[in-house]
Amino acid sequence: VLPADDGKHYVMVLGGLGYIGSHTTLELLKDGYNVVVVDDLSNCFEEVLNPIRILAEDYCREQGLIMPTLRFHKMDYRSEQMRQLFPRYAAARSCITGVIHFAAFKSVAESIERPLAYYQNNICGLVDLLVTLQENGIKNFVFSSSATVYGAKANEGKPLREDDLVHFDETYIDEMGQECLRINGSKGLTCPYGRSKYFAEAILADLAKADPSMRITALRYFNPVGCHPSGILREDPRQKPTNLFPVIASVMKGKKPQLEVFGSDWETRDGTAIRDFIHVMDLAQGHVAALAAAKANPSRDSFRAYNLGTGNGMTVAEVISSFEKASMQKVPAVLAPRRAGDVGACVAATQRAETELGWTTAKGVDECARDTWNALNMPEDCLA
Ligand code: NAD
Ligand code: WQD
Repeated sequence: VLPADDGKHYVMVLGGLGYIGSHTTLELLKDGYNVVVVDDLSNCFEEVLNPIRILAEDYCREQGLIMPTLRFHKMDYRSEQMRQLFPRYAAARSCITGVIHFAAFKSVAESIERPLAYYQNNICGLVDLLVTLQENGIKNFVFSSSATVYGAKANEGKPLREDDLVHFDETYIDEMGQECLRINGSKGLTCPYGRSKYFAEAILADLAKADPSMRITALRYFNPVGCHPSGILREDPRQKPTNLFPVIASVMKGKKPQLEVFGSDWETRDGTAIRDFIHVMDLAQGHVAALAAAKANPSRDSFRAYNLGTGNGMTVAEVISSFEKASMQKVPAVLAPRRAGDVGACVAATQRAETELGWTTAKGVDECARDTWNALNMPEDCLA
């Protein structure tokens, strides 16, 4: 229940109990932000509030800080209830100073079977949300985008730069000092999920152009993996994940007999595909940095995209070795054909985020594997 004269400033986190949202909520609390989480629990469990609270309270106690306020509203971010939240907070003299939007559907395969459900949640929901934010004068908006927006550009084998995908035609000066035209648009997006992230960014860029007072940040995540080192806050979805780390985790738990390694004939150092695996704690801190940077730099473009990755590509075989090192066990694996729609390598250029957000990653793939393995060994009921 919101006190009648609450009078606090909050960051609102939509989808804040999901994998990345829960780790980000923790980092926001540690940084002193009061947080309002909205989640409909479609891909998470309410119990995740417990480890968030425990870890934030432990941190604040150790650091001699006052624990900020954490509020949770179980609701669809597209609902009328959600629209009513803003006047409710205003009536309590509270202020929502920024919104981080994680709430979306994210399965590539499911998006091909249910494109309209994906567009409804990831696009229609976003547009209506932006109208509500405008009505309530909220300017600072951080959006969960994805390296998937670069599409086939990843096949060119170079680290992906934010300028590889722009939303308006731009001129730029090339290495030879010549003026060139960069044409907006993305090529080789292979699924409705990926397209939903691309369309969402384009909509955000249009809004930012029409309303230059907006501060919209699109964070293009590479491959988020790992979990809090305590193991009590971790990836715990309702939907069965098909990504590499959770699949290895299922194999190590004996829930799946072996890992299928999709493709061993890529042009990489060991033939398996390369990805830029970013520890979710580093990623979470990237959101705190993005929120602060948007506030601190009023002359910034009203729409700005940043890659959140490490800049270091690791192969699937190297990930398996990291798990074997962490667990001192063999990961049963078989070579299988390439998975449809995959690219051989996808690695971030990290300079823009380093320079403009003052943020960089600290953890490598060994720590990602170690923390995932550690969480696997925590009792199932540790969240209760
Ligand atoms: P997640 O499914 O764990 O988290 C999303 C959360 O949003 C869930 O808790 C879900 O219950 C909630 N949600 C979904 N629709 C909702 C709605 N209509 N109303 C309220 N809550 C709703 O996913 P995640 O891995 O934490 O991803 C977060 C965001 O980052 C998503 O937008 C995703 O597309 C994007 N992203 C994820 C990855 C990845 O590999 N995990 C990579 C790039 C981008
Ligand atoms: C990584 C590598 C697989 C499973 C996906 C989405 C992307 C983004 C992040 C949201 C690939 C290989 C995997 C397995 C394997 N999500 N692999 N065996 O495909 O890079 O990105 O998640 O925005 O949009 O496409 O991640 O973890 O699925 O795969 O060999 O059982 O591991 O082929 O080379 P991906 P991933």
